[in-house]
Amino acid sequence: MSFFITFEGPEGCGKSTQSRLLYERLSERGYPVIMVREPGGTRISDMIRRIVLDLHNTEIQPMTETLLFSAARAQLVNEVIRPYLDHNGIVLCDRYADSTYAYQGFGLGRDLDELRTLTKMATGGLTPDVTILLDISAEAGLERKFIARERARQNARQSPLPDGRTAAPMEWNRLDARELAFHQRVEQGYRQLIAESPDRWRVFDAYLPIEELSEQIFDVVEHSLGK
Ligand code: TYD
Repeated sequence: MSFFITFEGPEGCGKSTQSRLLYERLSERGYPVIMVREPGGTRISDMIRRIVLDLHNTEIQPMTETLLFSAARAQLVNEVIRPYLDHNGIVLCDRYADSTYAYQGFGLGRDLDELRTLTKMATGGLTPDVTILLDISAEAGLERKFIARERARQNARQSPLPDGRTAAPMEWNRLDARELAFHQRVEQGYRQLIAESPDRWRVFDAYLPIEELSEQIFDVVEHSLGK
């Protein structure tokens, strides 16, 4: 049976770690599963990712940004997600359309109905079966991401690659760099999205230790798969 699971949350909530751990647990148990992230996941979508996240691209207009995220999503859905679901697989996606509602809608103030129409055009109406929110405050999430970046930078300095280069420091992108108030609107936006369709969302405490959180997520997902 096919199943589409998305991960959402503010910056630094631990989505990437938790989606990877869920992927590992499901694969170990023999489920047919793939994991993708947004924006990205295909060659074209990765090219779009570089444009939207580049810190130098400060002149990007809100509408341009919105269309680029949607274009990356259209490519990913049609090239990867739908074909895998059609073959009865499980798809895990690190961010999806709810990120557009939270970031471009609540964060940037774009009209939510317009965003819904655009998303329907981009995805053909493909909606996740389950969406996992890792709940953390905007302040705490940004702090976590900032600390992780500094640690990655230090590690890169301390252990250069064999040819003398250093590993790329953790990404700090154009959206991370937006002001705290933006990220607080995103955080509140998620709460409103959950209130609108509570059946689809599963909310987890992002402050839990990584392994404990991963177990909780796996239990809930296995239960949903069993339905
Ligand atoms: P990324 O480095 O992947 O961050 P994260 O680990 O938090 O997902 O960067 C993706 C950024 O793009 C993140 O700040 C959220 C933002 N984004 C949107 O603003 N709209 C969208 O539709 C999507 C998919 C992401």
